[in-house]
Amino acid sequence: MAVKTGEIRKLLLEELEKSNYSKLAVLCDINTRINCYPIIEDILPDHVLITVPAGEKYKNLDSCAMIWEALTKNEMDRKSLMINLGGGVIGDMGGFCAAAYKRGISFMNVPTTLLSMVDASVGGKLGIDFLGFKNQIGLFSDAQSILIDPIFLNTLAFDELRSGFAEILKHGLIKDRAYWDKAKNLAVSPKELATVIAQSIAIKSEIVEADPKEKGLRKILNFGHTIGHAIEAYYLSSSNPFLHGEAIALGMLAETQLSSELCGLSKDDAKQIRDGIRKIFPELEINKSDIAKITRLTLHDKKNENGRVLMSLLSAIGNCQYDVEVTKEKIKAALKDCLFYN
Ligand SMILES: NC(=O)c1ccc[n+]([C@@H]2O[C@H](COP(=O)([O-])OP(=O)(O)OC[C@H]3O[C@@H](n4cnc5c(N)ncnc54)[C@H](O)[C@@H]3O)[C@@H](O)[C@H]2O)c1
Ligand SMILES: [Zn+2]
Repeated sequence: MAVKTGEIRKLLLEELEKSNYSKLAVLCDINTRINCYPIIEDILPDHVLITVPAGEKYKNLDSCAMIWEALTKNEMDRKSLMINLGGGVIGDMGGFCAAAYKRGISFMNVPTTLLSMVDASVGGKLGIDFLGFKNQIGLFSDAQSILIDPIFLNTLAFDELRSGFAEILKHGLIKDRAYWDKAKNLAVSPKELATVIAQSIAIKSEIVEADPKEKGLRKILNFGHTIGHAIEAYYLSSSNPFLHGEAIALGMLAETQLSSELCGLSKDDAKQIRDGIRKIFPELEINKSDIAKITRLTLHDKKNENGRVLMSLLSAIGNCQYDVEVTKEKIKAALKDCLFYN
């Protein structure tokens, strides 16, 4: 995987020089258009700038239609290149649009959120939400390169930074106890979190390279995500939706409870996980009356087989098992862990 870290203007110039493309498009959302595009604008050769509305709500077919229309109207051919300048939404959707346009043009990811730097930009999973289900339509295709510069974190809102922190914690929990020990004590600041980006990418890349199409091991990256995605999807159209990482933080709390019940996670480890996550996400909670509906949404998880809900759960901090069958009753009981913290 071609992940490069450094000064973005220099990285981009080097990459563009090497690429043999006919036309260039840059995809932004309204926020990255204002905060990130000016950082690279003057070094970019002639390009088509495409701007879509910001947020998960717009990771949908309508936005894709806008993007494909812009590519078509600007006569972008098969040799064109698209730069996805934004967070996970732009990366997932821009990559998907590029991979489907004329059966596939090259794309490059320039992640601008912590979450997309440590997680979404790496691994080739692309897609959009559909009919209220997360990432329901999508495919696997690798970016030509992923260029990472923490400079973009300076304009990112606190909640967005914290959202990415959840995936960093997950990387420690599923693969590396020492990393968890280090990460859980970091402050939610661009400066401190920038120090672990490379290590998180290394953990994710190692897993993805061993199992690119998620036949087995890669499923461990979904710890916290069966329940987290259900929470994220359920509140998506509410007045106060959760950010991806916030929903995953709650999902990890619930799935820690299931890990204790089903995979022998020790009481000490479970307490450490709860305390670590709650220190960073103290106020998040779901409504008790929503538990049944959230549970129903877990039935649509992509890891499920033959109607059975299969989760990735921890046997210890740093060790994750996959394809663990979990009943609806157990999920409902575990969701109570997401209600209140005391
Ligand atoms: N493909 C994968 O493997 C993978 C992994 C994890 C998450 N994801 C997906 O990623 C998405 C979440 O990504 P996200 O958290 O980056 O969300 P996002 O792309 O919506 O970005 C969050 C917000 O921050 C704004 N923003 C982005 N960069 C900014 C900057 N530098 N300064 C100021 N504002 C900025 C955006 O406009 C947006 O409002 C979800 O859709 C999730 O499903 C994908
Ligand atoms: Zn995630």
